[in-house]
Amino acid sequence: MLDISSSAIAHTYSTNMQTELLGDIQRIEVSGDKLVIKTAMAEAHIYIYSPTIIRVNMTKSPSAPDQSFAVIQQPSAEISYKDMPDSIEVRTSTLKLRINKSPLRFSFYTADDQLLSADDERFGTNWQGEQVITYRKLFPDEKFIGLGEKTGNLDRRGTSYVNWNTDASEHGIKTDPLYKTFPFFIGLHSSLMYGLFMDNTHKSYFDFGATTDEQMSWFGADGGDMNYYFFGAQSVTKILEDYTWLTGRMEMPPLWSLGYQQCRWSYMSAKEVLKVAQTFRKKKIPADVVYCDIDYMDNYKIFTWHPENFAEPKAMMDELKAMGFHLVTIVDPGIKVEKGYKQYDEGIKKNYFATYPNGEKYIANVWPGRCHFPDFFRGDVRDWWGKSFTALTDAGVDGFWNDMNEPAAWGQNIPSLMQFGKRPMPELRNAYGMEMARATYDGTKKILKNRRPFVLTRAAYAGTQRYSAVWTGDNSAYDAHMLLGQRLVNSLGLTGMALIGVDIGGFTGNPTPELMVRWNSLGVYTPMFRNHACIGTVYREPWQWGTKNEAIIKKDIQQRYRLLPYIYSSFYQAHQTGLPVSRTLAIDYTHDENIYHPKYQNQFLFGDAILICPTVSTDDTADVYLPKGNWYRLSTEEKFIGLQVITAEAPLTDLPVFIKASAIIPMQSVIQNTAEKGDGILELNIWNGDEPNQFVYYEDDGLSYNYEKGEFYKRVIRFDPGNKLIVLDTTEGNHPSKFTHINLILHGFGKVKTISVNNSAVKATKAGKGLSFKFENQDGEVRIQF
Ligand code: GLC
Repeated sequence: MLDISSSAIAHTYSTNMQTELLGDIQRIEVSGDKLVIKTAMAEAHIYIYSPTIIRVNMTKSPSAPDQSFAVIQQPSAEISYKDMPDSIEVRTSTLKLRINKSPLRFSFYTADDQLLSADDERFGTNWQGEQVITYRKLFPDEKFIGLGEKTGNLDRRGTSYVNWNTDASEHGIKTDPLYKTFPFFIGLHSSLMYGLFMDNTHKSYFDFGATTDEQMSWFGADGGDMNYYFFGAQSVTKILEDYTWLTGRMEMPPLWSLGYQQCRWSYMSAKEVLKVAQTFRKKKIPADVVYCDIDYMDNYKIFTWHPENFAEPKAMMDELKAMGFHLVTIVDPGIKVEKGYKQYDEGIKKNYFATYPNGEKYIANVWPGRCHFPDFFRGDVRDWWGKSFTALTDAGVDGFWNDMNEPAAWGQNIPSLMQFGKRPMPELRNAYGMEMARATYDGTKKILKNRRPFVLTRAAYAGTQRYSAVWTGDNSAYDAHMLLGQRLVNSLGLTGMALIGVDIGGFTGNPTPELMVRWNSLGVYTPMFRNHACIGTVYREPWQWGTKNEAIIKKDIQQRYRLLPYIYSSFYQAHQTGLPVSRTLAIDYTHDENIYHPKYQNQFLFGDAILICPTVSTDDTADVYLPKGNWYRLSTEEKFIGLQVITAEAPLTDLPVFIKASAIIPMQSVIQNTAEKGDGILELNIWNGDEPNQFVYYEDDGLSYNYEKGEFYKRVIRFDPGNKLIVLDTTEGNHPSKFTHINLILHGFGKVKTISVNNSAVKATKAGKGLSFKFENQDGEVRIQF
């Protein structure tokens, strides 16, 4: 794909507010890697990206450049078609696209002729003025999942959504739109499935049978092309793999970003920041990250430090580092209009800011007062922005929180006249936050040399996983919002994003102590574990909730640190395959009706094998739906057969967490931060089961990009119950493990007195309800017979 630069779009077809039907095929030709189909009012371009991905682009501007923020791949195959009297057909080894000639309509089939998705025969695709909509056949049993950060149920059938990145402060549990745009969904029907990504950054619409008397679903946008990628793989996992192949996958995150993160709007001085960090260490509550929200700046001027309250940032950073803390600082896009302020002067001189059509700089009010907004769609502006981070990195900051980048301004409705270059804001708005995150990521990655920056953004568009983590914005401190947050995280996981957080405790309002404790226990199983709160609310640090609650919170945070080897390996999986870390059950149990039931739809798998049932703080039992397979309650080791609902005890000390039979879960001793080595023992937990299983264990230095040059430590761990065998494959990569010993813990295996490890006997000792076997870690193959 081409990079985006400002370009005037040449229209060759008429536009008016009448409904313009696509019409009949007039001409078909193959042009390079695309099939061009002409009708009286538009052209359709068809491309094959892979055997399971076909792109359809219907355009009234066929000569305009083909651009995308999201897509990083090119069509992969020459295209050909079969001509038939009423239709033509484009085929791959797994997909058939049948194109009806009169009128032009598209339908997708599996190779064995099962219909996956089809245009509504009457309406298909049409324009009204600039707005373009495609109407699709709705199957009676069709369900829809996806669209990322959207409220509502896991199954989006009967709901309608808008994508228009919005500063949705104080949003309720039904508010739409929120902060991000991921125009990608998966349709499920007749035991089949398909994915559809409409790559268009204009304000867009998705209606899953909500407003058409159950006749159709429809999607479209206020401008641009009807440009979609159709995914025909027949598993959600493979569709996600294809989608993230197309739009990119996350890099390995810094390990420290997976530890506990403490934030607040705001810790008002270096002294207060240090005090928070010191208290974690004094109380031996593990933590890796503390944040500076907007008040660290001088009058909210980006890339400055407050002259009194943060007078010596480097000294503060040195102290934080000595305690094993990383600092993340916030940056907003708004540059204060103030002569003498470096970023303002430079931006004015070089014309880096968004304008009105007459060239005047656009101004709106945000935290610093009157602001200009960088045009992140320009490469030179992104470079300039990226370089400005030395103001923070020089002190030692390596985490960068991008906020207010929908973009937000007081009054909310930025006039459509605002322009980036020659392109009006409405065309690009949904990609603004992503391009800011891109500028931040690319810039800080260069500055930090070989160290991984951590970037967190509020606004995003498809593909943002290449640059940044996300959080779900300003949530609220009540139970239903906690559950909503989990659905948002699970749904964001269906968009290639894996490092996702919510404000634990709720941003707005004050949680009850019970809600704080419960939410924190859910945070253990949230990909990004960050506690954050709004100015004016009660303080949220673990020690603010009384000694009894502090002890529970501490124990749960310790559990997070114990799980880090499993969590880091799960992020490696996301990096390699695009599979998220928090997984809606729709990924592994797609065709199980029960998982879509509103009562069970919040449940999710954390990594391959840990099932969590988010439970409100006012309940001390929970009805849990256990899908197919056998399951163990983590806390009691009690075994349950799947495909049933059980009522689980759920006191605040014990969130309902279940482990899948045959699970392989590597853990470690409690450490105070991720830079600590711990006791050098990898605790390898295996839960008995009938099914063979395997787990890809992954380690690297957690900080640098050396893993790209082979400096990692990877081994496949196999559990083969039929042969009473556990095998640790020979390790791959050039990085030494930080674990010199292995403590194999067998759960649910009954009595096993000894095992043989590469033919040497190892005796069991008791470990809780399990059995423990300790031996030296070695890089060659380890065969364990039990
Ligand atoms: C926005 C952010 C919030 C932050 C606040 C002040 O509301 O969403 O997280 O604390 O701005 O910067």
